[in-house]
Amino acid sequence: MSQRTLVLLKPDTVRRGLVGEVLGRFEAKGLRIVAMDLRTIDADLADQHYAEHVDKAFYPPLRDFVTSGPLVAMVLEGDEAIEVIRALNGATDGRKAAPGTIRGDLSLSNRENLVHGSDSEESASREIKLWFPDLP
Ligand code: TYD
Ligand code: MG
Repeated sequence: MSQRTLVLLKPDTVRRGLVGEVLGRFEAKGLRIVAMDLRTIDADLADQHYAEHVDKAFYPPLRDFVTSGPLVAMVLEGDEAIEVIRALNGATDGRKAAPGTIRGDLSLSNRENLVHGSDSEESASREIKLWFPDLP
């Protein structure tokens, strides 16, 4: 079933010059870009995006990180895109993510882990509306 999902190339991806490398993996897989935007977000959008995490101990430094510079937000589309992208991204902690995944190959951090991908259809729908309210 074709799905849309929200993907973020977080500020570490932009800072490290890995946008092409990471986006290339999604494109090579066959996912289509539906919307894409380079932007620096404020704390309010960070809090809404990470609503499930705002009360956790790791959240304040995570908020500082995701607001620290430009990131690339995009909507990608394809068959089973939500699960496919979570698999391409790898486990949350870059130190534990499997080789071959984006995080496993390119991140050594549990916070600066390069990418975000929506974790369910409900999250994808909520996050796409939050980041791209005008997308038809
Ligand atoms: P989470 O939703 O658990 O991971 P994922 O991005 O794989 O869905 O957490 C959201 C982000 O919060 C995660 O990408 C990195 C950051 N984070 C930390 O900084 N420390 C932590 O201990 C955890 C679990 C996450
Ligand atoms: Mg998550």
